[in-house]
Amino acid sequence: MARFCPPPQEGNGRLCRKMALPMLEAQGIAVAQGRRILIQGLDLTIPRGECVGLSGPSGAGKTTVGRALACLHPLAGGRLTLDGQPPGKGLWPVQYLHQDPLVAMNPRWTLDRILREAGPPRDDLRTALGADLPAERFPHELSGGQLQRLSILRGLMARPRVLIADEITAALDPVSQALMWRVLLDVCRATGMGLLAISHDDALLARISGRSMAIA
Ligand SMILES: Nc1ncnc2c1ncn2[C@@H]1O[C@H](COP(=O)(O)OP(=O)(O)O)[C@@H](O)[C@H]1O
Ligand SMILES: [Mg+2]
Repeated sequence: MARFCPPPQEGNGRLCRKMALPMLEAQGIAVAQGRRILIQGLDLTIPRGECVGLSGPSGAGKTTVGRALACLHPLAGGRLTLDGQPPGKGLWPVQYLHQDPLVAMNPRWTLDRILREAGPPRDDLRTALGADLPAERFPHELSGGQLQRLSILRGLMARPRVLIADEITAALDPVSQALMWRVLLDVCRATGMGLLAISHDDALLARISGRSMAIA
């Protein structure tokens, strides 16, 4: 899992100029599955503190692009930078949140262990997300909604610079969906975290993101 990389501090001339740069920038990227090129020449910028939407029909390659931005899938072309720096040997602080959180969790770990591994406790976020769940349970003992709340909490506890949220609220009821996005947008505003909201739901993206792009 991507870990926290401290954001540049204000008050230093060099770093202040960095603050003005777009945070995550993909220039002309291509992604493939095997030999099949799915996307070619995609330009995408996720500025600091903003939510950008990515839409497209099922099978278009949204998940593959999201995973590539988090360096979980190789680029077949183009350039990816965070504050002007390409991925290096260190941790890449771009966190990918899976549509189906169960596949991204160790089934043998309790919730307590899963969250302890993510970072220092965040009781404020846990409460805001409604993720106060029994610590001794295992992931398969949770409902889909509880799992997604846990997954979002875990993702935020790693304090990523950018969060890639892949259809994370597709299976939630409208009230829970609105709550999750409100919390995520609050974190963006408060910490400068960038957010890529991947969804096939254009109405949702229009509500939560200032800017969206579609892939066909
Ligand atoms: N692990 C994989 N191996 C081979 N093909 C894959 C794999 N994952 C996805 N694909 C294929 O790549 C295409 C894009 O998938 P995906 O990125 O999941 O699209 P989306 O998220 O837009 O539905 C689809 O045709 C899908 O079947
Ligand atoms: Mg997908």
